[in-house]
Amino acid sequence: MRCIAIANQKGGAAKTTTTVNLAAALAERGRRILLIDLDPQGNSSDWVGCVRNESEGAFTLLTGKAALADLVLATEWTGVDAIPATKALSGIERALAGEVGAEMALRRKISAAPAQWDYILIDTPPTLGILTLNALTAAREVIVPVAAHVLGLAGVAQLKETIAVVRERLNPDLTVAGIVASRVDSRTRHCADVVASLRETFGSEVYATEIRENIRLAEAPSFKRSILEYSNNSPGAADYRALAEDVIRQE
Ligand SMILES: Nc1ncnc2c1ncn2[C@@H]1O[C@H](COP(=O)(O)OP(=O)(O)OP(=O)(O)O)[C@@H](O)[C@H]1O
Ligand SMILES: [Mg+2]
Repeated sequence: MRCIAIANQKGGAAKTTTTVNLAAALAERGRRILLIDLDPQGNSSDWVGCVRNESEGAFTLLTGKAALADLVLATEWTGVDAIPATKALSGIERALAGEVGAEMALRRKISAAPAQWDYILIDTPPTLGILTLNALTAAREVIVPVAAHVLGLAGVAQLKETIAVVRERLNPDLTVAGIVASRVDSRTRHCADVVASLRETFGSEVYATEIRENIRLAEAPSFKRSILEYSNNSPGAADYRALAEDVIRQE
């Protein structure tokens, strides 16, 4: 079972778009996926059509006694289960304040979970707070989406520092599975420059696959479909299938 956090503290980096469509593309290749939504915004829960019940979901997973398996909901997407975010998740800092080992809450639950999935993918909020720390402590790997139309390299460097601290103090096995350039618009010089400096700075850590800017990806959530179902022949579908191949090659 591979447990991967999708993280970048920068807002709008395509974390959710990547989590959800990578889940669908891996499931299309026969992998069983558990998506955990640790973002109080609940964008990935909404996208996969999870009905959010306040007594269930990620808040209870982190704060309650319930086992992970008891909080998993089936989605209508083949091969994809989910633990949704709930509004309560925005109060998590207070709920976990003063708890010894608050960063370890998710890790404890995942360690005790049945190996029922091939992948656990964790969507995270645009902060480096307790939720992202829980994701980085529970996961073995991180995928870092970077939106190529805005310069975010300093943010990636900051995230890598956080990853190094987590590795040192909480999770020695944590590695960067890859950085993925997203929202790449080949028509703009600026985008090409950002992708080039990303590759220059982070070398082989950057996935070969780039996710192109594609309006279909922005439309798909309104229909609660993955890009593969919503627009099977779109560039977005091709790119997320290619990214899934990159990820499968690392198995
Ligand atoms: N390849 C793409 N082409 C076009 N639009 C995209 C693409 N990837 C993401 N977007 C759009 O960019 C916006 C931000 O994407 P997304 O919500 O996935 O980012 P995020 O990192 O999860 O944001 P947040 O930090 O708020 O959680 C969304 O409106 C999404 O539809
Ligand atoms: Mg998001």
